[in-house]
Amino acid sequence: MLDIKDLTIRYNSMDRVTAAVNGISLSIEKGSFTGLVGESGSGKSTLMSALLGLLPPRTEVTGEILYKGADILRMSESEIRNLRWKELSLVPQGAQNSFTPVMKIKRHIEEVLNVHSGIFGKDAEKEVVRLLEDVGLDAGIKERYPHELSGGQKQRAAIALALACSPALLLADEPTTALDVIVQAEILELLSGLRKSKDLSIILVTHDLPLAAMVCDRLVVMKDGMIAESGTPRELVNDPRHPHTKDLIREMFWQRNKKNG
Ligand SMILES: Nc1ncnc2c1ncn2[C@@H]1O[C@H](COP(=O)(O)OP(=O)(O)OP(=O)(O)O)[C@@H](O)[C@H]1O
Ligand SMILES: [Mg+2]
Repeated sequence: MLDIKDLTIRYNSMDRVTAAVNGISLSIEKGSFTGLVGESGSGKSTLMSALLGLLPPRTEVTGEILYKGADILRMSESEIRNLRWKELSLVPQGAQNSFTPVMKIKRHIEEVLNVHSGIFGKDAEKEVVRLLEDVGLDAGIKERYPHELSGGQKQRAAIALALACSPALLLADEPTTALDVIVQAEILELLSGLRKSKDLSIILVTHDLPLAAMVCDRLVVMKDGMIAESGTPRELVNDPRHPHTKDLIREMFWQRNKKNG
Protein backbone atom coordinates (compact mmCIF):
# COMPACT_ATOMS: atom_id res chain seq x y z
CA MET A 1 0.00 0.00 0.00
CA LEU A 2 2.98 2.29 0.65
CA ASP A 3 6.13 2.35 -1.41
CA ILE A 4 8.98 4.61 -0.38
CA LYS A 5 11.62 4.91 -3.07
CA ASP A 6 15.09 6.37 -2.58
CA LEU A 7 13.82 9.02 -0.17
CA THR A 8 16.25 11.72 0.92
CA ILE A 9 15.31 14.56 3.27
CA ARG A 10 17.46 17.57 4.18
CA TYR A 11 16.33 20.23 6.62
CA ASN A 12 17.41 23.80 5.90
CA SER A 13 17.20 25.79 9.09
CA MET A 14 19.08 29.05 9.61
CA ASP A 15 22.48 28.43 8.09
CA ARG A 16 22.49 24.69 8.80
CA VAL A 17 21.66 21.78 6.55
CA THR A 18 20.77 18.49 8.29
CA ALA A 19 20.62 15.32 6.24
CA ALA A 20 17.93 13.49 8.25
CA VAL A 21 16.98 10.75 5.76
CA ASN A 22 19.50 9.42 3.26
CA GLY A 23 18.14 7.31 0.44
CA ILE A 24 15.57 5.09 2.13
CA SER A 25 13.55 2.54 0.15
CA LEU A 26 10.83 0.67 2.00
CA SER A 27 7.55 -1.08 1.18
CA ILE A 28 4.68 -1.42 3.63
CA GLU A 29 2.20 -4.18 2.84
CA LYS A 30 -1.48 -3.90 3.61
CA GLY A 31 -2.25 -5.46 6.99
CA SER A 32 1.39 -5.48 8.12
CA PHE A 33 2.75 -4.40 11.50
CA THR A 34 6.16 -2.85 10.93
CA GLY A 35 8.55 -1.75 13.66
CA LEU A 36 10.77 1.17 12.68
CA VAL A 37 13.60 1.06 15.17
CA GLY A 38 16.56 3.35 15.67
CA GLU A 39 18.46 5.52 18.09
CA SER A 40 17.58 9.14 18.75
CA GLY A 41 18.19 11.32 15.69
CA SER A 42 18.19 8.46 13.19
CA GLY A 43 15.38 10.09 11.19
CA LYS A 44 12.32 8.11 12.31
CA SER A 45 10.00 11.05 13.04
CA THR A 46 11.26 12.87 9.96
CA LEU A 47 10.15 9.91 7.87
CA MET A 48 6.70 9.95 9.55
CA SER A 49 6.33 13.69 8.85
CA ALA A 50 7.22 13.11 5.20
CA LEU A 51 4.51 10.46 4.87
CA LEU A 52 1.93 13.02 5.98
CA GLY A 53 3.31 15.95 4.00
CA LEU A 54 4.18 17.72 7.24
CA LEU A 55 7.81 18.66 6.64
CA PRO A 56 8.65 22.31 7.27
CA PRO A 57 8.95 24.64 4.29
CA ARG A 58 12.37 24.84 2.62
CA THR A 59 13.05 21.18 3.40
CA GLU A 60 14.69 19.46 0.43
CA VAL A 61 13.03 16.17 -0.43
CA THR A 62 13.87 13.84 -3.28
CA GLY A 63 12.58 10.38 -4.15
CA GLU A 64 9.04 9.06 -4.10
CA ILE A 65 6.42 8.13 -1.51
CA LEU A 66 3.75 6.18 -3.35
CA TYR A 67 0.53 5.63 -1.44
CA LYS A 68 -1.80 3.35 -3.40
CA GLY A 69 0.20 4.37 -6.46
CA ALA A 70 0.07 8.17 -6.04
CA ASP A 71 3.15 10.14 -5.00
CA ILE A 72 2.53 12.01 -1.75
CA LEU A 73 5.49 14.28 -2.45
CA ARG A 74 3.84 15.57 -5.59
CA MET A 75 0.32 16.04 -4.20
CA SER A 76 -1.35 19.40 -3.72
CA GLU A 77 -2.19 20.46 -0.17
CA SER A 78 -5.86 19.58 -0.75
CA GLU A 79 -4.98 16.11 -2.03
CA ILE A 80 -2.83 15.49 1.05
CA ARG A 81 -5.63 16.75 3.28
CA ASN A 82 -7.80 13.99 1.88
CA LEU A 83 -5.21 11.43 2.95
CA ARG A 84 -4.45 12.67 6.47
CA TRP A 85 -6.69 11.20 9.19
CA LYS A 86 -8.71 9.17 6.63
CA GLU A 87 -5.97 7.08 5.03
CA LEU A 88 -2.77 7.73 6.99
CA SER A 89 -3.05 8.89 10.57
CA LEU A 90 -0.36 9.76 13.09
CA VAL A 91 -0.11 9.30 16.81
CA PRO A 92 2.61 11.92 17.18
CA GLN A 93 5.67 11.54 19.37
CA GLY A 94 4.82 12.92 22.81
CA ALA A 95 1.07 12.71 22.04
CA GLN A 96 0.34 12.38 25.75
CA ASN A 97 1.46 15.96 26.22
CA SER A 98 -0.13 17.42 23.12
CA PHE A 99 -3.69 17.61 24.43
CA THR A 100 -4.99 21.11 25.09
CA PRO A 101 -5.26 21.33 28.90
CA VAL A 102 -8.53 23.28 29.00
CA MET A 103 -10.37 21.01 26.54
CA LYS A 104 -12.20 17.86 27.61
CA ILE A 105 -11.17 14.65 25.86
CA LYS A 106 -14.45 14.52 23.93
CA ARG A 107 -13.87 18.00 22.51
CA HIS A 108 -10.49 16.92 21.06
CA ILE A 109 -12.07 13.98 19.27
CA GLU A 110 -15.20 15.86 18.23
CA GLU A 111 -13.10 18.54 16.59
CA VAL A 112 -11.41 15.97 14.36
CA LEU A 113 -14.77 14.38 13.53
CA ASN A 114 -16.28 17.81 12.70
CA VAL A 115 -13.44 19.04 10.53
CA HIS A 116 -12.29 15.88 8.78
CA SER A 117 -15.37 13.63 8.64
CA GLY A 118 -18.21 16.15 8.71
CA ILE A 119 -19.79 14.40 11.71
CA PHE A 120 -21.52 16.72 14.21
CA GLY A 121 -23.74 16.88 17.29
CA LYS A 122 -25.27 13.69 18.66
CA ASP A 123 -23.61 11.60 15.93
CA ALA A 124 -20.19 12.91 16.91
CA GLU A 125 -20.86 12.25 20.58
CA LYS A 126 -21.84 8.66 19.81
CA GLU A 127 -18.73 8.26 17.73
CA VAL A 128 -16.56 9.55 20.62
CA VAL A 129 -17.96 6.86 22.92
CA ARG A 130 -17.37 4.16 20.32
CA LEU A 131 -13.78 5.32 19.73
CA LEU A 132 -12.97 5.44 23.45
CA GLU A 133 -14.38 1.96 23.95
CA ASP A 134 -12.40 0.69 20.96
CA VAL A 135 -9.18 1.66 22.72
CA GLY A 136 -10.26 0.14 26.02
CA LEU A 137 -11.32 3.35 27.77
CA ASP A 138 -14.48 3.94 29.75
CA ALA A 139 -17.05 6.14 27.98
CA GLY A 140 -16.96 8.43 31.04
CA ILE A 141 -13.43 9.48 30.13
CA LYS A 142 -14.92 11.79 27.51
CA GLU A 143 -15.95 14.27 30.19
CA ARG A 144 -12.47 14.46 31.69
CA TYR A 145 -9.70 16.96 31.10
CA PRO A 146 -6.32 15.65 29.93
CA HIS A 147 -4.71 16.11 33.37
CA GLU A 148 -7.34 13.82 34.86
CA LEU A 149 -5.98 10.87 32.88
CA SER A 150 -3.00 8.61 33.61
CA GLY A 151 -0.16 8.44 31.10
CA GLY A 152 -1.45 5.17 29.70
CA GLN A 153 -5.01 6.50 29.43
CA LYS A 154 -3.75 9.59 27.62
CA GLN A 155 -1.85 7.41 25.18
CA ARG A 156 -5.03 5.39 24.55
CA ALA A 157 -6.96 8.63 24.01
CA ALA A 158 -4.30 9.77 21.54
CA ILE A 159 -4.76 6.51 19.64
CA ALA A 160 -8.55 6.98 19.67
CA LEU A 161 -8.01 10.44 18.20
CA ALA A 162 -5.82 9.06 15.42
CA LEU A 163 -8.47 6.44 14.63
CA ALA A 164 -11.32 8.98 14.49
CA CYS A 165 -11.62 8.93 10.69
CA SER A 166 -10.95 5.18 10.25
CA PRO A 167 -7.50 5.33 8.64
CA ALA A 168 -6.01 2.41 6.73
CA LEU A 169 -2.46 3.00 8.00
CA LEU A 170 -1.66 4.09 11.55
CA LEU A 171 1.72 5.67 12.27
CA ALA A 172 2.49 5.43 15.99
CA ASP A 173 5.59 7.46 16.90
CA GLU A 174 7.08 6.25 20.22
CA PRO A 175 3.66 5.44 21.75
CA THR A 176 5.18 3.58 24.69
CA THR A 177 7.96 5.95 25.68
CA ALA A 178 7.63 7.34 29.22
CA LEU A 179 5.26 4.55 30.29
CA ASP A 180 6.13 1.78 32.71
CA VAL A 181 6.75 -1.71 31.33
CA ILE A 182 3.32 -3.07 32.18
CA VAL A 183 1.51 -0.19 30.52
CA GLN A 184 3.90 -0.43 27.55
CA ALA A 185 2.84 -4.03 27.06
CA GLU A 186 -0.83 -3.06 27.33
CA ILE A 187 -0.46 -0.40 24.64
CA LEU A 188 1.25 -2.89 22.33
CA GLU A 189 -1.50 -5.40 22.97
CA LEU A 190 -4.06 -2.71 22.12
CA LEU A 191 -2.31 -1.95 18.83
CA SER A 192 -2.17 -5.65 17.94
CA GLY A 193 -5.86 -6.01 18.70
CA LEU A 194 -6.81 -2.93 16.65
CA ARG A 195 -4.79 -4.20 13.74
CA LYS A 196 -7.01 -7.27 13.59
CA SER A 197 -10.37 -5.76 14.55
CA LYS A 198 -10.00 -2.75 12.25
CA ASP A 199 -7.99 -4.33 9.46
CA LEU A 200 -5.34 -1.71 10.15
CA SER A 201 -1.76 -1.55 8.92
CA ILE A 202 0.60 -0.14 11.53
CA ILE A 203 4.06 1.39 11.61
CA LEU A 204 5.37 1.43 15.16
CA VAL A 205 8.26 3.83 15.69
CA THR A 206 10.47 3.08 18.67
CA HIS A 207 14.04 2.94 19.92
CA ASP A 208 13.17 -0.27 21.79
CA LEU A 209 13.97 -3.20 19.51
CA PRO A 210 13.06 -6.03 21.92
CA LEU A 211 9.70 -4.33 22.57
CA ALA A 212 8.93 -3.98 18.85
CA ALA A 213 9.97 -7.60 18.35
CA MET A 214 7.12 -8.71 20.63
CA VAL A 215 4.36 -7.49 18.32
CA CYS A 216 5.68 -6.59 14.88
CA ASP A 217 5.95 -8.98 11.98
CA ARG A 218 8.80 -7.05 10.44
CA LEU A 219 11.49 -4.80 11.88
CA VAL A 220 13.37 -2.09 10.03
CA VAL A 221 16.48 -0.75 11.76
CA MET A 222 17.46 2.83 10.96
CA LYS A 223 20.83 4.44 11.53
CA ASP A 224 21.91 7.90 10.37
CA GLY A 225 18.89 8.26 8.10
CA MET A 226 19.53 4.94 6.37
CA ILE A 227 18.17 1.44 6.73
CA ALA A 228 20.86 -0.62 8.41
CA GLU A 229 18.99 -3.89 8.39
CA SER A 230 15.49 -5.32 8.14
CA GLY A 231 13.88 -8.69 8.70
CA THR A 232 11.53 -10.66 10.91
CA PRO A 233 11.89 -10.12 14.68
CA ARG A 234 13.24 -13.65 14.99
CA GLU A 235 15.95 -12.99 12.42
CA LEU A 236 16.98 -9.69 13.93
CA VAL A 237 16.96 -10.72 17.58
CA ASN A 238 18.52 -14.17 17.14
CA ASP A 239 20.93 -13.36 14.38
CA PRO A 240 21.53 -9.62 14.01
CA ARG A 241 23.91 -8.87 11.14
CA HIS A 242 24.49 -5.16 11.46
CA PRO A 243 26.60 -3.99 14.42
CA HIS A 244 24.03 -1.28 15.12
CA THR A 245 21.25 -3.86 15.52
CA LYS A 246 23.41 -5.67 18.06
CA ASP A 247 24.01 -2.40 19.89
CA LEU A 248 20.28 -1.63 20.04
CA ILE A 249 19.47 -5.05 21.47
CA ARG A 250 22.29 -4.92 24.01
CA GLU A 251 21.38 -1.38 25.05
CA MET A 252 17.71 -2.17 25.72
CA PHE A 253 18.41 -5.38 27.64
CA TRP A 254 20.98 -3.53 29.68
CA GLN A 255 18.54 -0.72 30.50
CA ARG A 256 15.89 -3.25 31.50
CA ASN A 257 18.21 -5.17 33.78
CA LYS A 258 19.31 -1.92 35.36
CA LYS A 259 15.67 -0.96 36.03
CA ASN A 260 14.84 -4.36 37.48
CA GLY A 261 17.81 -4.08 39.82
N1 LIG B 1 12.41 20.72 11.99
C1 LIG B 1 13.70 20.39 11.94
N2 LIG B 1 14.63 21.28 11.50
C2 LIG B 1 15.94 20.95 11.43
N3 LIG B 1 16.42 19.75 11.78
C3 LIG B 1 15.56 18.82 12.24
C4 LIG B 1 14.16 19.10 12.35
N4 LIG B 1 13.55 17.99 12.85
C5 LIG B 1 14.51 17.06 13.03
N5 LIG B 1 15.73 17.57 12.67
C6 LIG B 1 17.01 16.84 12.69
O1 LIG B 1 16.90 15.70 11.83
C7 LIG B 1 17.54 14.57 12.41
C8 LIG B 1 16.55 13.43 12.57
O2 LIG B 1 15.58 13.80 13.55
P1 LIG B 1 14.28 12.93 13.88
O3 LIG B 1 13.44 13.72 14.79
O4 LIG B 1 13.68 12.46 12.61
O5 LIG B 1 14.93 11.68 14.63
P2 LIG B 1 14.23 10.50 15.45
O6 LIG B 1 14.80 9.23 14.93
O7 LIG B 1 12.76 10.65 15.41
O8 LIG B 1 14.78 10.74 16.92
P3 LIG B 1 14.05 10.49 18.37
O9 LIG B 1 14.17 9.01 18.65
O10 LIG B 1 14.87 11.29 19.32
O11 LIG B 1 12.64 10.94 18.28
C9 LIG B 1 18.16 15.05 13.71
O12 LIG B 1 19.50 15.39 13.46
C10 LIG B 1 17.35 16.28 14.05
O13 LIG B 1 18.10 17.19 14.81
MG1 LIG C 1 11.34 10.95 16.86
